[in-house]
Amino acid sequence: MVNSGYVKWFILFGVLCSCVDGLGVNWGTQATHKLPPGTVVQMLKDNGITKVKLFDADEITMNALAGSGLEVMVAIPNDQLLFMNSYDRAKQWVRRNITRYNFNGGVNIKYVAVGNEPFLTSYNGTFLNTTFPALQNIQNALNEAGVGNNIKATVPLNADVYGSPTDNPYPSFGRFRSDINGLMTQIVQFLDTNKAPFTVNIYPFLSLYGNDDFPFNYAFFDGATPIVDSGTGIQYTNVFDANFDTLVSSLKDVGYGNMPILVGEVGWPTEGDKNGNNGNAFRFYSGLLSRLAANKGTPLRPGYIEVYLFGLLDEDAKSIAPGSFERHWGIFKYDGQPKYAIDLSGQGQNSLPVGAKGVEYLPQKWCMFNPDAKDLSKLSDNINYACTFADCTALGYGSSCNSLDANGNASYAFNMYYQVKNQDELACNFEGLAKVTTQNISQGQCNFIIQIYSYSSSLRPSLAGLAFVLVLTLLAL
Ligand SMILES: *[C@@H]1O[C@H](CO)[C@@H](O)[C@H](O)[C@H]1NC(C)=O
Ligand SMILES: *[C@@H]1O[C@H](CO)[C@@H](O)[C@H](O)[C@H]1NC(C)=O
Ligand SMILES: *[C@@H]1O[C@H](CO)[C@@H](O)[C@H](O)[C@H]1NC(C)=O
Ligand SMILES: *[C@@H]1O[C@H](CO)[C@@H](O)[C@H](O)[C@H]1NC(C)=O
Ligand SMILES: *[C@@H]1O[C@H](CO)[C@@H](O)[C@H](O)[C@H]1NC(C)=O
Repeated sequence: MVNSGYVKWFILFGVLCSCVDGLGVNWGTQATHKLPPGTVVQMLKDNGITKVKLFDADEITMNALAGSGLEVMVAIPNDQLLFMNSYDRAKQWVRRNITRYNFNGGVNIKYVAVGNEPFLTSYNGTFLNTTFPALQNIQNALNEAGVGNNIKATVPLNADVYGSPTDNPYPSFGRFRSDINGLMTQIVQFLDTNKAPFTVNIYPFLSLYGNDDFPFNYAFFDGATPIVDSGTGIQYTNVFDANFDTLVSSLKDVGYGNMPILVGEVGWPTEGDKNGNNGNAFRFYSGLLSRLAANKGTPLRPGYIEVYLFGLLDEDAKSIAPGSFERHWGIFKYDGQPKYAIDLSGQGQNSLPVGAKGVEYLPQKWCMFNPDAKDLSKLSDNINYACTFADCTALGYGSSCNSLDANGNASYAFNMYYQVKNQDELACNFEGLAKVTTQNISQGQCNFIIQIYSYSSSLRPSLAGLAFVLVLTLLAL
């Protein structure tokens, strides 16, 4: 029974609000401490997010999504593509991770992401031979299972499949990279046959990162001097449109200029680089979301674009090989709390998004550099050790903790490690260089965090206590 008050409200709102239609986000889980999946699902609903993209098909996550109504893209990681080259394994995967959730009150799966940016040049061709067969097997298995009309397999690709900006000086020059042009053509044909979309990840931040000649304002959606495409005369005012339209041209070049495109990842990080901060992230998302709400599209593809923001939460266990910003893509912090006021509906009525509710934190204890320590010869070794196993990227240039003094640096590193280790006393020693404190030692913009109870990695003290009592009781019997 649908509440009629809600229906009226919805109709009214639907008329008045040109909100972002079906906003999606990426929910990555490479964190040392994960929020309970049920808490995250509630957070998505509280913020009006209706689509979510995962990087696997984790059972606990899927169970939390069951009955939520959220549209889900599940994924097969790159390291499993080779297995999916066996059709039997692909069928088994579809049974275990897709059709199993296909029941009333199950999971509303829409897409299967086959691999994640498998053709990145930095992978040196490792997945070139295995991606297309995996895509075919998964879609064919979906079709054979009778769900292929509603669930489409797609390959999220990085914009580097259509080369660098020097290969494509203007969007209308777009062509797939010459080393993979034949492969891309086959993939696009297969997607078209199965009415599946092309999925691309677009990162204006990365256009700017490490390229000081890049016109700064062109990374955003306001204030840039237009760049004229010499092929079409179209004026481009932002690199997102230019990038997207380069793909449209590349698809046209192989004969599929009208193929549906969805943006699998787009976002802006808040630490780890001079351009990674809340102000720039806010500016980027404000521009992006208001354009999405207005269904503006791009010059070559006006209208609705299906978009998945990257990402929902900070992930402190991601590799920082691509850069220190990699752990700070979240619109929300590690604990599901908002970083800045942004109206996710694209109306520009900026207030803080709704944070995760009922988050449980570890006790109010921090680990700090012990100012009484005498022998400082091992200090840098210990800091390095801490930062190998914990996230110290906020200490770097342009980040929120970059202005700490040497002792502050040591304390920051020691505390991050201590929190990762669930405040284990033994994790705050560092050869006598550290000590535990109950004083909040945060300084200015630099927050010395308290970690959350991880839903999977730690027994709560109360539960551990209960187990202990149980064991004693059993022993007594
Ligand atoms: C698919 O489901 C199986 C069985 O539940 C699970 O072991 C596997 O990790 C899932 N695959 C992915 C990519 O999450
Ligand atoms: C790719 O090759 C480079 C240079 O040979 C190497 O440093 C890098 O580790 C390789 N990457 C992968 C994923 O194999
Ligand atoms: C892919 O297949 C080609 C042709 O069979 C072969 O030369 C190449 O070594 C293979 N690449 C990988 C990474 O297995
Ligand atoms: C603190 O650490 C950061 C990052 O390693 C470094 O750039 C900075 O110079 C350090 N500051 C001091 C005073 O040692
Ligand atoms: C510690 O202090 C900082 C800065 O005042 C604050 O933002 C943070 O919430 C505090 N942490 C805790 C756990 O109270």
